[in-house]
Amino acid sequence: MPGSEVRPYYVPVGNEEHVFKAAFRQGLSVVLKGPTGCGKTRFVEAMAYDLKRPLITVACHDDLSTADLVGRFLLRGGDTEWVDGPLTRAVREGAICYLDEVVEARQDTTVVLHPLTDHRRQLPIERLGVTLDAAPGFCLVVSYNPGYQSVLKDLKDSTRQRMVAIELGFPAADVEEKIVAVEAGIDHDVAAQLVRVGQAIRRLENVGLREVASTRVLIAAGRLIGAGLSPREAARAAIVGPLTDDATVTAGLVELMDAYLADTSSPD
Ligand SMILES: Nc1ncnc2c1ncn2[C@@H]1O[C@H](COP(=O)(O)OP(=O)(O)OP(=O)(O)O)[C@@H](O)[C@H]1O
Ligand SMILES: [Mg+2]
Repeated sequence: MPGSEVRPYYVPVGNEEHVFKAAFRQGLSVVLKGPTGCGKTRFVEAMAYDLKRPLITVACHDDLSTADLVGRFLLRGGDTEWVDGPLTRAVREGAICYLDEVVEARQDTTVVLHPLTDHRRQLPIERLGVTLDAAPGFCLVVSYNPGYQSVLKDLKDSTRQRMVAIELGFPAADVEEKIVAVEAGIDHDVAAQLVRVGQAIRRLENVGLREVASTRVLIAAGRLIGAGLSPREAARAAIVGPLTDDATVTAGLVELMDAYLADTSSPD
């Protein structure tokens, strides 16, 4: 719960903390854009901590219904009882509601967000015949990965224009080195090697990768190194494997990494 634990470890990559807090204070909704593993979830956790708000997260998918967000009547021992969905709970409690991968949800589901995202800050609950005013502190945050989805699945313009956009990219090398060292619990030098590999992969073009190496996979490689694997072994398992199934692409990536990494584990 807010206040009782340590701040989730988050190192800013730009002015995103200022923008988020300004949007929060003004009661504006936020859309976080960025590739997988770049820190969107961690960022929201840190903001919820700083702003002392509970965080309610919903992983969106194409079966998600309005009832999943808002709530439904359930049968309980012969009676029907209304049970709030996560969005309704957040509206009542003044929580930060984080809809992860919002474009996965159908547009007829997300239409319920509209009156919440403009000046009304209201949630109509049709089944109950009521409209709730969002409690102070309520903040809607949605995330999506622009590189991933087809244009068709892109966020509707009328929804987008109701939100403040924050674009999160991968951090600068010195910042990412620090993150990888801290999160994986490894030496700064080793973290720096992994970040150089990550950056080399991010520079590649037209090699058939859907996604580049994220901060998350660099941390995973660092953790394997911490567990005794050599940097090359760790990078194959945690970076190359997750990025591609294609044999030719794999061979190319392994060659690239071998140029950057030692093949022996460090003595400890
Ligand atoms: N700026 C940062 N400060 C601290 N840790 C970070 C930062 N960026 C990334 N990380 C680390 O990278 C990991 C992945 O970040 P996170 O889970 O927040 O990514 P995401 O953008 O939500 O990815 P996805 O789109 O796949 O959900 C985190 O667990 C954290 O260890
Ligand atoms: Mg996430």
